[in-house]
Amino acid sequence: MVLADSFGRVATDLRVSLTDRCNLRCAYCMPPEGLDWLPAPEVLTGDEIVRLIRIGVTMLGIREVRFTGGEPLLRRDLASIIARTAAVRPRPEISLTTNGIGLARRAADLRKAGLDRINVSLDTLRPEVFRKLARRDRLPDVLEGLAAAAAAGLAPVKVNAVLMRGLNDDEAVPLLRYCLSNEYELRFIEQMPLDAQHGWKRAEMVTADEIFAALSSAFTLSVDEARVRGSAPAETFLVDGGPGRVGVIASVTRPFCGSCDRVRLTADGQVRNCLFAREESDLRSLLRSGAGEAEIAARWRAAVAGKLPGHGINDPSFLQPDRPMSAIGG
Ligand code: 5AD
Ligand code: SF4
Repeated sequence: MVLADSFGRVATDLRVSLTDRCNLRCAYCMPPEGLDWLPAPEVLTGDEIVRLIRIGVTMLGIREVRFTGGEPLLRRDLASIIARTAAVRPRPEISLTTNGIGLARRAADLRKAGLDRINVSLDTLRPEVFRKLARRDRLPDVLEGLAAAAAAGLAPVKVNAVLMRGLNDDEAVPLLRYCLSNEYELRFIEQMPLDAQHGWKRAEMVTADEIFAALSSAFTLSVDEARVRGSAPAETFLVDGGPGRVGVIASVTRPFCGSCDRVRLTADGQVRNCLFAREESDLRSLLRSGAGEAEIAARWRAAVAGKLPGHGINDPSFLQPDRPMSAIGG
C-alpha cells in the first residue's frame, strides 16, 4: 500500500514537525513576540512519533523522513527519535531542517544516532541584518553549527536562504561565495505566504528570476545535467562550470506541485497533505484512543487521497493556511 492521491502522485517523503517552538523569530515566519505555542500535552511524545513513522515506513511506502519544526533542536529527545527511526526497516533516509542554533554541540551525536543529511537556514552574513531578520543576535551560533555539521560528516551540508526585500535582498552573491568556499550547497527559496502575521505580498517577493539575475552578475550558471529535477523542488545550477552548485526553489513563480511527493505530520499529530492545505487529519486522537496500526494507516491514506492538485498561491481566491510554517513543518 502506498500514499497515493487522485492525481497519480505518491507521497514517499514524510516531513515531521517535532515542535512548533523556536528560538528565532524570522520575519517571514513569525511576529516578533512569537506565537501561542501548543500546550505540551498536545505535542506528540517521542514514542508516538516513532510509532507513526514506523507505520508510514512499513505500511505506507515512506522512504524518507525529514525532521523539522519550529526548531527541532529544541527537542531534547531528538537524537533518540533519530536513532529509533534509523532502526525501522527498510531503513528510511533521515534528514533534519534546522536554524543551526545549538547544532555545534549536537551535530556529532545526531550523526552517530543515524542522521544522514542536514539543511541549515542562513539568510544573511551580516550580524545586524540577522538581528533584524531573525530578531535575535545569533549569527555566530549558526555559522558554528554549519561548520560542526560538516565536520561531523553530514556533508554536503545544505543551506536554505530566503531573501526579503529591503532586508537581505542584496546578499545573493555574498551568500553563494560563502557557501562555495565552505563547500555548503546553497539553495534560495522564494518567500511563501506562510507567516503567522500574514505580511506576505506577492509584489514584494524576491523572485527566482531576480535571484538568478543577481547571481549571473558574478557567476556563470549552467544547467546541471547530472541532476534531474524529478520531484526535487530545487532547480540546480553548476557555478562557474562546477563542482560548486546552487539551487533555486521557485515555489511561487514556478510551482512544482505536479511532482510533489511529500506529506507532513504536525507536532500535534495532524497529517497535512500540503503546506497550504486547509484541512488536517487527526492521527493523535486515534493514537490516544487505542487505535490499531491498520486504522491509523487507513486514516493517513485517506488524508493523502484528498490532496488537491496545487497550492493555488497564484489564484485570486488563495487563502493562507490557518497555521504558520512553524506549526506545519517545512
Ligand atoms: N517562505 C519560504 N521559506 C520559508 N521558510 C520558513 N518560512 C518560509 C517562508 N514563508 C524556510 C526556512 C527554513 C525552511 C524550513 O523553510 O528558512 O529553511
Ligand atoms: Fe524559527 Fe525556522 Fe520560523 Fe525562523 S523560519 S522563526 S528558524 S521556525
